[in-house]
Amino acid sequence: MDNIRAICCFFLMALVARNHAGLVDIKAKGAKGDGKTDDGPAINNAWKEACAGAAPSGIVFPPGTYMAFPPINLTGPCKGPMEIKATGATIKAPPELEKFKTGTWISIMYVDRLTMTGGTFDGQGQESWKNKKCGDKQTSCDIPANINFGFCKHSLIKNVTSVNSKYFHIIVLRCDNTTLEHITINAPKNSPNTDGIHLSRLIGVNITNANIKTGDDCISFSERSENVRVEKVTCGPGHGISIGSLGKNPNERPVHGIWIKNCTLIGTDNGVRIKSWAAAHPGSVNDVHFEEIIMEKVANPIVIDQNYCPAKSCKV
Ligand SMILES: *[C@@H]1O[C@H](CO)[C@@H](O)[C@H](O)[C@H]1NC(C)=O
Ligand SMILES: *[C@@H]1O[C@H](CO)[C@@H](O)[C@H](O)[C@H]1NC(C)=O
Ligand SMILES: *[C@@H]1O[C@H](CO)[C@@H](O)[C@H](O)[C@H]1NC(C)=O
Ligand SMILES: *[C@@H]1O[C@H](CO)[C@@H](O)[C@H](O)[C@H]1NC(C)=O
Ligand SMILES: *[C@@H]1O[C@H](CO)[C@@H](O)[C@H](O)[C@H]1NC(C)=O
Repeated sequence: MDNIRAICCFFLMALVARNHAGLVDIKAKGAKGDGKTDDGPAINNAWKEACAGAAPSGIVFPPGTYMAFPPINLTGPCKGPMEIKATGATIKAPPELEKFKTGTWISIMYVDRLTMTGGTFDGQGQESWKNKKCGDKQTSCDIPANINFGFCKHSLIKNVTSVNSKYFHIIVLRCDNTTLEHITINAPKNSPNTDGIHLSRLIGVNITNANIKTGDDCISFSERSENVRVEKVTCGPGHGISIGSLGKNPNERPVHGIWIKNCTLIGTDNGVRIKSWAAAHPGSVNDVHFEEIIMEKVANPIVIDQNYCPAKSCKV
C-alpha cells in the first residue's frame, strides 16, 4: 500500500515538476500577498526573468490576494511561448487615480503565444467612477483599463475575471489568432465607460462562454476587427454588444466577418448595435451575422445608428 502511494506520489511530483518548468513564482521574487504591500515590483521582476529565460516560460501567482501598483508591465518579445497562471489569486489595483500615469493598469504587450489562466483582477474603480475626466469619449483617456493586451498573437486567455475596472475591463488590440474563453466581467450598471471586452485592429479572434455584467458595452468592436466569433456570451447589465462607434477618425479600416452567435442579453439598454458618428469620415462594416440571440428585458434590441452623437458632442 505504502509503495503504491509512494509511486503515485512520485508520478504526481514528476508531473507537477514538468508542468511548472520555467515558471517563476512571484513570491520567490518577493511578493508578500498580504493584499496591502505593493507586489508590483515582484510581479514585474518575475516577468523579466521568465521572459528572458529559456522557453517556454511564465509567471505564477500562488492563490492569495495581491496589491499591485502600476505600471504592471508584462512586455515581450520573450524567448518563446509564455504563461501567466493566476488561478485562485486576486490581484488588486490601488483605488487612487493619481497612482496611474498611463491608461492601463496591467499591460501585456508583444507576447507571442501567451497562455493566461485564471486570476481575478480587481480595479477598485468605485471612487474613480465619480471622476468626470473621461466623459463620453470613446477613445482611451488617461483613466486606466484593467488589462490591456497589445500585439499578443496566437494567444489563449481563459478563466480570467475582471471586476470594477476604472475604465474598460479588457482591451485586445492587434492580437491576431487569439481565443478568450470563460471570461467573467463584473461591475455595476452605473459604472461609466467600463466596456467589458474592447476589440481593435485584429484578425481571427474567438470569444466563447463569457459572462459580462458591466456599466457600458458588453463587447465593443472598433476599426479593422476582422473574422471575430463571439459565442455563448451572456451580457447584462450594460449597453449590449456594439460594433463601433466607427467613423470618428479618418482612414479607419473596414470591420467585417463578425459572427455573434448564441448569445444572451439580459436587462441591457441595447441588444446588438452598429453605430457610427454623425457627419463622420467614410468607412465600412459588412458581413456581420447576429444569430440565435436571446434577449430579455432589453430596451432597444436592434440598433443601427449612423448618427451617433453622445452628449451632443459632435458638430453636425
Ligand atoms: C515596459 O517595458 C518595456 C520593455 O521592458 C519598456 O520599453 C517600457 O518603457 C516599459 N513601460 C513602462 C510604462 O514601464
Ligand atoms: C477558474 O477560476 C476559479 C477562480 O480562480 C477557480 O476556482 C476555478 O477552478 C477555475 N477553473 C478552471 C477550469 O481553471
Ligand atoms: C494560431 O495560434 C495557435 C496557437 O498558438 C497556433 O498553433 C496556430 O498555428 C496559429 N494559427 C495561425 C494561422 O497563425
Ligand atoms: C475560431 O473558431 C473558428 C470556428 O470554429 C475556427 O475556425 C478558428 O480557428 C478559431 N480561431 C481561433 C483563434 O481559435
Ligand atoms: C447555445 O449555448 C447553450 C449553452 O450556453 C447550449 O446549451 C445550446 O445548445 C446552444 N445552442 C446552439 C444552437 O448552439
